[in-house]
Amino acid sequence: MKRGVLPVTCAAMELPGCCLWFTGLSGAGKSTIANIVGDELRGRGRKVELLDGDEVREHLSKGLGFSKADRDENVRRIGWVASVLARNGVVSITAAISPYRAVRDEVRGWTTNFVEIHVATSLEECETRDVKGLYARARAGEIPEFTGVSDPYEAPPSPEITLETTGRTPEQSAAEVVAWLEAHTLL
Ligand code: ADX
Repeated sequence: MKRGVLPVTCAAMELPGCCLWFTGLSGAGKSTIANIVGDELRGRGRKVELLDGDEVREHLSKGLGFSKADRDENVRRIGWVASVLARNGVVSITAAISPYRAVRDEVRGWTTNFVEIHVATSLEECETRDVKGLYARARAGEIPEFTGVSDPYEAPPSPEITLETTGRTPEQSAAEVVAWLEAHTLL
């Protein structure tokens, strides 16, 4: 065999990894949409890992609270794992409120193909849905520092994708994300 000539491998044609960073208020639909996107990408043969805020807080971020410092630490930890996965060809999907712009931008700075997805469900809509009953408790003063009620949420000024969920099903929102990835040759 001629030296220096290697067969073209599938690896050479692999799509790059990326990080799909969902951000938005509690109850906005981040996890629901993220899960549908994850299933769709797995169905297309991609390696996918979903880091969900509620779940991460049970292990990687166990013990962290909801002060600005603790939320930033939570976001950095999620961001670090997501970036390591993305640089190894995985589609890492994160679903955490991640309310502070600066730390999201910090993660963007270290992450390959960072795709910020703002799930822009309004506070009013999230409160009306109140899937976990947390807004009612926050309004009653039972949960301090609750995002949108007594703690800030800084919407991204120029996310790659904005999902307006009112009047749309989670499947329709997920399809918007998939279409964006196809249009940007990440899928
Ligand atoms: S983040 O701000 O650090 O990104 P994360 O997404 O991990 O937040 O966790 C948010 C989830 O924790 C909410 O969906 C809700 O279930 C729960 N939670 C408990 N206390 C709070 C609070 N004070 N503010 C927001 N969410 C809270």
